[in-house]
Amino acid sequence: MTVIEATGLRYAYPDGTLAVDGIDVTIEAGEQVALVGPNGAGKSTLLQLLGGLIDPDSGTVRYFGETDDADDVRDRMSVLTQDPADYLFNPTVEEDLAYGPGQLSLSRAEIDHRVDRITARFDLEALRSKPPFRLSGGEQRRAALASALTVDPDVLLLDEPVSNVDAANRATILRLLEELSAQGTTIVISTPETELVPHVADRVLLLDGDGIAADGSTREVMTDAGLLADCDLRPPQVVRLFADHETVPLTVEEAQERLQMGDSR
Ligand SMILES: Nc1ncnc2c1ncn2[C@@H]1O[C@H](COP(=O)(O)OP(=O)(O)O)[C@@H](O)[C@H]1O
Ligand SMILES: [Mg+2]
Repeated sequence: MTVIEATGLRYAYPDGTLAVDGIDVTIEAGEQVALVGPNGAGKSTLLQLLGGLIDPDSGTVRYFGETDDADDVRDRMSVLTQDPADYLFNPTVEEDLAYGPGQLSLSRAEIDHRVDRITARFDLEALRSKPPFRLSGGEQRRAALASALTVDPDVLLLDEPVSNVDAANRATILRLLEELSAQGTTIVISTPETELVPHVADRVLLLDGDGIAADGSTREVMTDAGLLADCDLRPPQVVRLFADHETVPLTVEEAQERLQMGDSR
């Protein structure tokens, strides 16, 4: 099933900056897709267009083959912008977590159940009754992502969810994304970090500021040093280290496995 089908997207900001110019994107159910590109390539703008947070100047976005109106699918799709503060505006973290499900017609008991479950899953117990603005940057990201998941979305659009997040919080978030992928959640994640890509996506849309420079498997795109260099990016370190090996590992974990199996070349 096609979850998002965007055609001919074009978007200019009020000051005239043409941020997205003629982009087509199709996302299938269950895919994990990374929008990768250098700063200013248009990742955030494209993600907001796909999530229906802004309207294109021209082009259309169709959801689940059913509707062009993102508001019709708010209970199936969550969008997380780059700024966690967009999602944390209640007096406490707990109230922020209850906000999304509160917009759906759910019983109080079901809302409480979802908040409890997501609090445990994201290790947010200690932060539950705190005002969100007292949280550290990484904690805010964790709380914002948790709030995006309380509606149990089929589709998750995330703008740089682990930027400026410390190693422990990052690991927690990546593990959760892996679990969601395993459950079949469709995930689109923007990042300027090639290191992150093999951990979160099996398909890459590479943006270079002029449009989509490549659309391929993570392996194809992340091992193509020339293509990445054209976008001012480099392959992940482990890819560079093993570049002359027959099969190039994409993550350190893959490399360790390979080395344990006795691959010296
Ligand atoms: N609010 C805005 N007003 C004007 N230009 C903007 C605004 N937001 C982003 N841009 C410009 O649009 C382009 C794409 O930005 P953005 O989508 O944020 O890229 P990325 O997320 O890849 O860093 C850049 O040239 C950026 O300077
Ligand atoms: Mg951005």
